[in-house]
Amino acid sequence: MLLRIQNIMWLLLSICYTVGGKASDSPPGFPAPLTLVNFASELKQGLHLVEFYSPYCSHCNSLAPIWEKTWESFHEEGEKLNITMSQVNCIESGDICAKENIEFYPNLRLYGPNGFIKNFSGKRKAEAFIEFMKTEAADPSNTEVIDSQSVALTGHHFAKLLAGASPTRYLVSFWPSEDISHVDEKIQFKNCRECSTFSKAWGKLSEKLKEFNIATGHLNCQSNELICKELGFANLLEAGNDGANREPRIALLVPNKTTNNFFVYENPLTTDIAVYEEFAKRLYSNNEVPELTEIQIMDIINKNFAPLEEQKLHLVFNYDVKTVFPEDFDILEYLIEPLSKIPNMYLYKSVGDLRKVTHSAFEEMYGLINYNETEAEKSLNEDAFALNTITQTPTFYLFKDGDKIPHVFPGYSTTEMRNLDAIMQWVNEYATPLITQVTESNFEDLLGSTPSRYSNVIIVLTDSSRPKEQIQNIKDLFIGYYDYEHIRQQNMFQLILDERNDKERRVAELKSQKAQAERILNTLRKEIPHTDDKAVILTYVDIAKQKDLLSNIGINSHLEHKAGDVIMIDRKTGFFYELNTFGSTLTSSPYEIKDTLRSLNFPGPSIFKYVKHGKLINSPYNGYFEHLNVVHRHGIWGYIVVGIIMFSLFKLRRAMTAHKIKERYNSQGLLGVYHQKKPLD
Ligand SMILES: *[C@@H]1O[C@H](CO)[C@@H](O)[C@H](O)[C@H]1NC(C)=O
Ligand SMILES: *[C@@H]1O[C@H](CO)[C@@H](O)[C@H](O)[C@H]1NC(C)=O
Ligand SMILES: *[C@@H]1O[C@H](CO)[C@@H](O)[C@H](O)[C@H]1NC(C)=O
Ligand SMILES: *[C@@H]1O[C@H](CO)[C@@H](O)[C@H](O)[C@H]1NC(C)=O
Repeated sequence: MLLRIQNIMWLLLSICYTVGGKASDSPPGFPAPLTLVNFASELKQGLHLVEFYSPYCSHCNSLAPIWEKTWESFHEEGEKLNITMSQVNCIESGDICAKENIEFYPNLRLYGPNGFIKNFSGKRKAEAFIEFMKTEAADPSNTEVIDSQSVALTGHHFAKLLAGASPTRYLVSFWPSEDISHVDEKIQFKNCRECSTFSKAWGKLSEKLKEFNIATGHLNCQSNELICKELGFANLLEAGNDGANREPRIALLVPNKTTNNFFVYENPLTTDIAVYEEFAKRLYSNNEVPELTEIQIMDIINKNFAPLEEQKLHLVFNYDVKTVFPEDFDILEYLIEPLSKIPNMYLYKSVGDLRKVTHSAFEEMYGLINYNETEAEKSLNEDAFALNTITQTPTFYLFKDGDKIPHVFPGYSTTEMRNLDAIMQWVNEYATPLITQVTESNFEDLLGSTPSRYSNVIIVLTDSSRPKEQIQNIKDLFIGYYDYEHIRQQNMFQLILDERNDKERRVAELKSQKAQAERILNTLRKEIPHTDDKAVILTYVDIAKQKDLLSNIGINSHLEHKAGDVIMIDRKTGFFYELNTFGSTLTSSPYEIKDTLRSLNFPGPSIFKYVKHGKLINSPYNGYFEHLNVVHRHGIWGYIVVGIIMFSLFKLRRAMTAHKIKERYNSQGLLGVYHQKKPLD
């Protein structure tokens, strides 16, 4: 019924465009338009550039001779390339056009074995058509046949899986639809912009996951309202009149478990199937909490990775078989869900001596930073190490791929080890990979929402077209970073000692004053922080692939930057620094990194004027008017304050001028020295 109405509408629409009949002198062999009988089967074969037309539309009629001429000159070559030019007459085959959602004529689209691929939006000329067809025929992804393995789940079946009867691992997608049985079906989704592209991705993902024994299924939310509502996907039930977008949801089922067995993918929807593959594999691994040995952890610490490789984070539950209680393991179950939201975060357990492993990691770090023979030898401060690794077992350690600095959860009692919030807060503090690639979309987060323990973002410029140098630049950055960490940790240790002495002095004072026991206890309990806010976040930019990134993120520099250069950003002020302490361009040489960071964060008696000469991110004033950055930094308020000052000055000047005029008549006055001619700048 709906189709009929749409047909009539097209007819009306076409009549508006009617100019005359379609030219009928087609070249010999020119194929007849596709119909409902052969449309689907024909399109399964190779690629098709399809023209949807109406014989009553004038643009279609002027296109007809061009289309026919193109066919005549190209169809033989096209056959070899497996691409065909086809037509659909929407007046005769209205049902096809309705299903394909054709809204105007002529409508030119590329189809492949999996259905619609893209619109043709070039010039309607023979050369443009041929160029387009040749390009598309050369793209193998257009003809890749997706054999979706995703099973249509009934509500009943899904409920059984959820209740714990799933014998296999399952990744399930939830759709704003009534009755898709096969996700590749070309159905029209209402109010879902991503659905048709995502259905292809889902099909591919289902093939991929089969290799890892992960089954895939899909559920139509519009026909399983109760379930979808219960799961929190109520927006998928019904297309609202507001046209609100309804994107499909994805969740994972853990087999043979009745509780804590359902994990929703919460990050943004993407067609990059590797993201879901990572999510699924990581969650299944985390559900099993595999055991790690000391040797395996040392391998993690010493991992040499190319920067573009994913870097895993390893949260390790460290326990002693003799003293652990069965309840101690419960926390692992609760951690799976919050950890699922942190990309690349894996959960493990280990009975190894991880304090010893941590000590070895630090020793490796010290091996790296004694690179300069003119400096005194640096070595691990055993007291500081002892203080930083005081913990009880069981406890948690965090190891990052390639990072020589492990972290220990500061848990001194069972209470802390069973406090999910405290553990997650600690995890989130440290959950950044050793080095991150800066993109336009993550830059704000790097500056803003990461924890306050970080004072700087360090960007090293690298060039992936020269992989050897790229790795060297990054290795140098790491060494400079560890060299700085040595200074920072020494400094922190000194602060802790000072605070501790201070505390002891206060307690002694209270005792000598015979203070109440409670007050003394409170003073004793007052926590000494083991972190400062001067840690740094390491990042890189690939200048071969991200040419305009620096200017796009607001780093407007006058220097001709090249691979190996380094830029440091102060997260609090938004200023960036690109000179070293000698006034030349800052590079990834370890000494320069260490030295510049030290003068930014621990300025000693000598102030390094070059380093101090920072510039403001996103400021229009980084040239001659650099001093205006002070205003710009405060945003609208900066300008308002300046406005008020300017206005006041203006008023003052007016008042003074008036005074002067008066003065001329009165002759004397204290303000007689005021020179009106002096320009106001
Ligand atoms: C053309 O494409 C179809 C379907 O993708 C395929 O079966 C066929 O082998 C292809 N032919 C050539 C010549 O590539
Ligand atoms: C193709 O064109 C149609 C209009 O006919 C539009 O609605 C659709 O969004 C376009 N698709 C893509 C992938 O550009
Ligand atoms: C789930 O339990 C069934 C029956 O007990 C068993 O055959 C199956 O291997 C288990 N699946 C997994 C993934 O552990
Ligand atoms: C070694 O340290 C000195 C300062 O003590 C510095 O001037 C020099 O550049 C450093 N050399 C290297 C290779 O880092």
